[in-house]
Amino acid sequence: MTQTPYDVIGAQALYNLIDNFYSLVSQDIRLNHLFPEDLTETSRKQKQFLTQFLGGPSLYTEEHGHPMLKRRHLDFTITHLERDAWLENMQRAIIDVQLPAGVGDYLYERLRLTANHMVNSEN
Ligand code: HEM
Repeated sequence: MTQTPYDVIGAQALYNLIDNFYSLVSQDIRLNHLFPEDLTETSRKQKQFLTQFLGGPSLYTEEHGHPMLKRRHLDFTITHLERDAWLENMQRAIIDVQLPAGVGDYLYERLRLTANHMVNSEN
């Protein structure tokens, strides 16, 4: 049996990581103006998305359809500054949750590539 990254991380650690991430985002003036004040729903969707992104059940698609992430981000101006801020908070959240060896680096690298893809404005 092959374990997915989702299995290695575990749902509880993934959820803690995401809650921690949005708590950091809510305090980050480079990002918080983009997000709703109440991040409960954003966090819930991100849990669904990252579950399937890491090889777990397709929770996001079951409820919302195809992710089309770039398209869903087009309402927000994302330059390299917002991308870097997003990734910085994510890196802190990953470090804080203390994942099994190697899987944190793996997760960060996958998110780094996806975040690059979300950039939709030069400035
Ligand atoms: C590059 C920097 C990024 C910025 C500034 C950003 C910003 C945002 C904002 C403002 C929202 C809307 C929140 C809401 O209204 O609830 C959102 C939604 C979302 N973001 Fe990002 N995001 C970034 C990167 C990413 C990445 C890398 C991923 C995936 C790994 C991601 C996954 C999502 C998901 C799943 C949603 C919910 C979409 C939906 O409404 O169904 N985002 N993001």
